[in-house]
Amino acid sequence: MGKLIFRKDGTAQGVAKQRLIESLAKPDRRIIYDPYAKNFVLGANIIKLMGHRLSVWLGNKIIPGMHEHLISRTRYIDDLIEKSTFANIEQYVILGAGYDSRAHRLKLPSKLKIFEVDQSEVQELKRLRLPDNMPNRESITYVDIDFNHQSLKEQLINVGFDQNKSTIFTLEGVSQYISREALDATLKEVADLNPNSNSKIFISYVNKLLKEDSKACFGKGYSKPEKAVSFITNSAAKMGEPWISFYSAEEIESILSQNNFTLIENKTLADLNSKYFTPVGRTIPENHIFKLEHFVIAESKK
Ligand SMILES: C[S@@+](CC[C@H](N)C(=O)[O-])C[C@H]1O[C@@H](n2cnc3c(N)ncnc32)[C@H](O)[C@@H]1O
Repeated sequence: MGKLIFRKDGTAQGVAKQRLIESLAKPDRRIIYDPYAKNFVLGANIIKLMGHRLSVWLGNKIIPGMHEHLISRTRYIDDLIEKSTFANIEQYVILGAGYDSRAHRLKLPSKLKIFEVDQSEVQELKRLRLPDNMPNRESITYVDIDFNHQSLKEQLINVGFDQNKSTIFTLEGVSQYISREALDATLKEVADLNPNSNSKIFISYVNKLLKEDSKACFGKGYSKPEKAVSFITNSAAKMGEPWISFYSAEEIESILSQNNFTLIENKTLADLNSKYFTPVGRTIPENHIFKLEHFVIAESKK
C-alpha cells in the first residue's frame, strides 16, 4: 500500500497520462504511441473508457493546448533520438526519466546503451510496473540520483558509462523542478563526461516571463493566461514538486555555451504545430497554443 500512495511520482504520472490519452487516438490521427503509459497512471481504465476525444476535450477545458504541448515535446525528442542513434550516437542518457518508455517503444539500434536516471523511489516504482518482456530491457541501466545533491558523473561512471563513446542526453520536463545551480552543475558534468567525443543534449525549460508577462507564453487570444500559469504552478506545488527555475532563451544559450555546448534549435508548440498536427488534420488554433515551455537541442562544441 505504501508504494501505491507514494507521492514523488506525481508529475511523472501527469506526463505519462498525456501519453496514454494520445495513444488512444486512431493510428492515422495520433502524434505518438506509448503502449506502456497505462502501467503508470492511476485511473488508466477510466481514461481508456473515456477515449481520446473526450479526454482531450476535458483537458482543454482546464488548460487549452497543454496536451498537445506535452505530446509535441515527446514526439520532438522521439524524432531526435531515432535520427541521432541511427547516425553515430552510441549511448543515450535519459535524465529525469520518470515513466518515459522511449527505450522500449522506439526502434533503436541493439548496440545502443541506455541509462535511465531519476530519483531512486521513482525508478523502483517504474521497474515494478513494467512488464518483464519489454523490448530492449537488457540495454537499460537504471541510475539513482538526486540532481540537487549528487554527482551525475560519479553515478554514471560507477555503472559503466563509457566516456569515449558519443552520447545523447535528454532532460525532458525537469529543469523547472531543480535549482539553477543544479542545472548548471548537471550540464558541467555532462560536458565532463564526454570530453573527447561528440555529444548532444535536449533540454526543455520554462519561459521566465511566465508570471510577469503570461500572455507572451501562449498564442494570441489565449483565454486567461495568468489563470493557466497559476493553475499549473499550484498543481505542481500541491504534488510536492514545485516549479522553482525559469529561464530566458539568452540565459539557456549562455548556460549551454559556458558548458561547452552550442545551441542548435529552440522550438515550442507554435513551431511544431504545422509539422506534427496539421498533417493529421489536428491543426491547433492560435488561441490554444501553449508555448510556456521551450524545447532546445544543443551539440558539444567542436
Ligand atoms: C515532469 S516529470 C518528467 C518525466 C519524464 N522526463 C517525462 O517527460 O515523462 C519530472 C521528473 O524529474 C524527476 N526529478 C525531479 N527532481 C529531481 C531531482 N532533484 N533529482 C532527480 N530527478 C528529479 C522526477 O522524479 C520526475 O520523474
